[in-house]
This record gives sequence, C-alpha cells and structure tokens, in this order.
Amino acid sequence: MSKFSPPPGTSDIFPEEISSWHSLEDTARRIFPLYGYLEMRTPVFEYTEVFKRGIGDETEVVQKEMYTFEDRGGRSLTLRPEGTAGIMRSLAGTDVMNGNEKRVYYIGPMFRGERPAAGRRRQFHQIGAENAGRVSPELDAECIALLLHYLDELGITGYKLLLNTRASREDRKPAEDSLRAYFANAIAGMCQDCRNRLERNVWRILDCKQEQCRDAISKTPDLAGLFGEPSRKYFEKVCAALTTMNIPFEVDSKLVRGLDYYVHTVFEVTHPGLGAQNAIAGGGRYEIFAPESDKAIAGVGFAAGLERLIMSQQALGIKPVQENLSPLVFLIGLGENARNENLRLVAKLRKSGISAMAEVEEKSMKASMRAANRLNAKFATILGDNELAKGTVVLKNMADGSQNEISSEGLIDHLKSLGK
Ligand code: HAM
Repeated sequence: MSKFSPPPGTSDIFPEEISSWHSLEDTARRIFPLYGYLEMRTPVFEYTEVFKRGIGDETEVVQKEMYTFEDRGGRSLTLRPEGTAGIMRSLAGTDVMNGNEKRVYYIGPMFRGERPAAGRRRQFHQIGAENAGRVSPELDAECIALLLHYLDELGITGYKLLLNTRASREDRKPAEDSLRAYFANAIAGMCQDCRNRLERNVWRILDCKQEQCRDAISKTPDLAGLFGEPSRKYFEKVCAALTTMNIPFEVDSKLVRGLDYYVHTVFEVTHPGLGAQNAIAGGGRYEIFAPESDKAIAGVGFAAGLERLIMSQQALGIKPVQENLSPLVFLIGLGENARNENLRLVAKLRKSGISAMAEVEEKSMKASMRAANRLNAKFATILGDNELAKGTVVLKNMADGSQNEISSEGLIDHLKSLGK
C-alpha cells in the first residue's frame, strides 16, 4: 500500500469525482423538502450508549463494527455507524415525545469497522430521512415513496423493493418461540455467533452471512402467520398503501435487517448492478429508547448509501453533469507593474463572479501559457507595460489561439458575455 493511501476502507474524493456527490446531495435537498423533510445535522460521534441502546447490544454493528474510544475525560464515545440513533437521541428532547411529528433528513459520513470490499467501506456516506413521533402504516408507505422518488430522480432504474414485517414486540413472541425451536435443531452445524444468538436474540440468526449457516436459514419456516393480528393488519395496510401508490414490491419473509430497533415494516432496495453488496438503501419503522429513559420514540425512516448509489449510476452508464472545474481566465503579467495590476484585477474578477487565476511570480511567457493550459483556462489575458499605458489587455482564446486587444474597463463585461 502506498504511503499516500488513506486507511483501509476509506477513500479520498477528488475534485474530478465531486460532481457525482454534489448531484446526489443536491437532488436530495430538492426532493426531500417536497415531503416535508428538513435537513438536520447531529455530531459524528455520540456517547457509545446511544448506539448500544438504540441499535441493540446483540447486533453485528454494535458487537463487531463500532469505532469506540475513550476521550480525555474518560467518556466512552463512538463514531456513528448510522444516523438514526443519534437523530432520535436529539429528538427525544423535543415535543416528538408528545406525539408531534417531525420530519428530518441528513447527509454525512458513517463509520463501521467492516471488512472492506466492493461497496463496503469503513467510512461511507448516507443520505437518510426520519419521520418521528407518529405511527401509521400510511406514513411507512409514504416514506418508501420518498426513497423511490429520490432514486427515480437520480435516474436509477432496475432496482427491487423488498418488504417485510417484524411485527410489534408484543406480537412477535409466538413467532420467536417457533424460530427458536426450529434453530435449536439445526444449531450444531452453525457458527458460534449464531449459537450465542439462539437464546439471546434468535432473530439475528436470520441476518447471519456465514456460509455454514446459510442452509438452515434458507429453510426457515414462514413465520408471518404467527404474528399477532394487529401486526398482520398493520402490514396489510402498508402493502395496500403501496399498491394504491402503484409501487411494486416483493415480500421477503426473511428480511429482518441488521439493526434491532425495527418493529413492523422493514424494507430494502437492492440493485443488480452492485454485486454482493447489493443494498442501495434500507429502512423501516422503529422504536428507540432514549438513553436513561424507558419511553421509546417511534419513527420510520431509511438511509441510502451514497457510494452504492454512485455505483448503481455507473452500472447504468449515468454520468452526472460535470461541474466546471477550470477557471474562465488566466492572467499573465509581463513585468512587475503588470503583475501588481493583475493582483488587483484578479480580485475584481472574482468579486464579480468570474473564476480567475493569475500568475503571481515572474515567469516567462511560455511558462505562463503552459500554466494556463494546465488549468484548462478558456482565456488568458496578457498585460505588459504597453497595455498598461493604454489601459488595455490582450485577450487570448486558448482553444483557437486567436487574440484581440480590449479595454481593461470592459474586460469584466466582455468575459461575462463570453463565459455564458
Ligand atoms: P443500513 O441498512 O445499515 O441501515 O444502511 C443503509 C445503507 O447504507 C445500506 O443499504 C447501504 O447502502 C449503506 N451502507 C451500510 N453499510 C455500508 C458500508 N459499510 N459501506 C458502504 N455502504 C454501506 C441504516 O443505517 C439505518 N439507520 C437506516 C434507517 C433509517 N432505518 C430507519 N431509519
């Protein structure tokens, strides 16, 4: 590994790649508010407890993937592995707890100590939305509609929406007992983690990715019929609302998702262009207990992985509109007076909204032209003592080499008309 590489599972995003990122972010900023979601920013690290209690002690994320450290004050802190727990920690201090609805979205880096692979990073980025405070199947469906609208706006086609219910905590007990009885017979051949999960949190077994566990998991009996009636009714309403909105979905009864806060609706959107890590977004309804509180905050939301959205766009051949990364004009001054004048001029150009660079050191004409070319400037101005005396500059078109002399006074207007 080169000494210039960032740590494994992290990436530098260079200016040449940034258009894709801006386009994902700008599209979210345009679409999410149409559904009443406003941007919120929470810290990149939280007290470790926020995630342990929020996401669940038994989850893979909490047990194996968190970047946890002690700060100088002896507090245990963790880099956020996802956005929901932190947002809910914050909203638990608002009137959301009295049943008032709050809709927020967020964009930012998340951190999980996973084994890096294509589409699996240790620092990755999510765009997420959370609707907190109210419980209704129609809100769950509306949240999914927002996610799919967003994907459509990004030009991402060919995805699949997988849907399931985890039922309410009360309504899932008989299914849980049945699942435990089933896995008790198969557990001998399964991994150590699944053996631990059998008693502690049997649902997590369904999310295990180990080869030796796959067979038993694939043969799990369908549990949907064992969920209590209120939860089954709730799920039917979610499905009905999606059908009303013409949103196709596939029910996947093994979809439990890797986080323990989910109740009722869970969903995932997969894309065939991604290989093994094919989930571009996931979410569902949840109940999260605020730290040091026995009152849960209810919500529904999702998060999409930006790296995976970009990979899907690439697989579909979608290229974002490239932002202009080059200056419109490069200022060359021959002699000290001209260079001083260019220092004033470049500031004036920039303040009038023109992207401009100037050669500030003494350089030959040839070297200055090379610099203008390297920056891919559209125009260069050449200023010498002669032009200074006349109040003019020579304006050179870098593409065809043509040049003409214009008044310094009129330069800004002239460049503005050329830059359009
Ligand atoms: P999640 O399924 O863990 O859900 O992550 C959501 C998305 O983040 C995934 O579908 C994937 O696109 C991306 N992602 C996750 N881990 C990685 C990784 N290591 N590298 C690259 N991309 C990754 C959540 O995080 C929940 N907070 C979603 C949610 C919001 N549920 C309710 N509200």
